[in-house]
Amino acid sequence: MAARETNPPKSAFNRRSTAEQVTAGTDLSGKTALVTGCNSGLGLETMRVLAMRGAHVIGAARTQEKAAEACASVKGKTTPVACELSDFDSVTACSDDVRRLDTPIDMLICNAGIMALPRLEQRYGLELQFVTNHLGHFILVNRLLPQVLDAPAGRIVMLSSSAHQQAPKGGIQFDNLSGEDGYSAWGAYGQSKLANALFALDLSERLKDTSVTANSLHPGVIATNLGRNMEGLFSMALGVLLLPMMRTIPQGAATQCYVATHPSLDGVSGLYFSDCNPQTPSKYARDKELARRLTEVSEEIVGNHLR
Ligand SMILES: NC(=O)c1ccc[n+]([C@@H]2O[C@H](COP(=O)([O-])OP(=O)(O)OC[C@H]3O[C@@H](n4cnc5c(N)ncnc54)[C@H](OP(=O)(O)O)[C@@H]3O)[C@@H](O)[C@H]2O)c1
Repeated sequence: MAARETNPPKSAFNRRSTAEQVTAGTDLSGKTALVTGCNSGLGLETMRVLAMRGAHVIGAARTQEKAAEACASVKGKTTPVACELSDFDSVTACSDDVRRLDTPIDMLICNAGIMALPRLEQRYGLELQFVTNHLGHFILVNRLLPQVLDAPAGRIVMLSSSAHQQAPKGGIQFDNLSGEDGYSAWGAYGQSKLANALFALDLSERLKDTSVTANSLHPGVIATNLGRNMEGLFSMALGVLLLPMMRTIPQGAATQCYVATHPSLDGVSGLYFSDCNPQTPSKYARDKELARRLTEVSEEIVGNHLR
């Protein structure tokens, strides 16, 4: 097994690069990708571009209808699957469907997410962003890991966010995963996005003697449906504030397509990317002990859905 690379060469791409540009010249025929949240925003563009480059894309959305409609809207080989990430039985059923396809998974792109729910919402007695953004993907990745290991050099790509820096003190509030001892919309979103980065970090440690890599990323600030839960005036004010740094959806999907496919990242694992280049995330997102603890606690919570 080649040694793990933690210092890839600087890429020729930047914040203006698009998903098509970062994959130009890359032939993905014979490869399979799974993209969650394939029906909207960055997930839809990622599926479109990977399929255009020849990959078979398994497109996951909350319902079979949404997944089928999204898959039908892009050219190339796609297979729709239902995956409601906040429902652990749905995630388990999705992974069973994908197992039945009996194909190695070269790229597992955990893209779906919800952001900044204004009021505390729960599922299984746990805060909903943590459940959807982290635990749903935690089950999916663990259940599909044998298929990723079957690929010659599988890549696991976790959508985090620069908002991971807004996670509360301590990073993950293990004693307040319900959110009942204090809730803030951005703190909870930040915690869930930190969890995405920590999960990739822990996977990269756990898989370091295999050919599978795991990385996380911030895609930039892009006007998608992600803001749907934000309330009117606040949403408008934030939009105006963020306008100068906004990028288009094709630009927003670039970093995940780059991390999932680019040959220069062979063997690169355990990093956090932004603008198609590695970046240093928060101290919590680099904390391997915190990452291990998150995995252990997540396993305890979702235990019987992993088997
Ligand atoms: N846009 C940005 O500025 C930005 C910045 C940093 C990070 N990100 C991250 O980028 C990723 C993609 O976001 P986006 O901007 O493309 O947002 P988007 O357009 O809202 O897409 C999010 C996707 O996630 C799906 N999803 C939401 N809840 C789900 C659930 N419970 N089960 C399964 N799927 C669910 C949505 O499905 P429905 O359409 O059915 O709800 C949709 O397909 C997210 O992880 C987000 O945190 C985005």
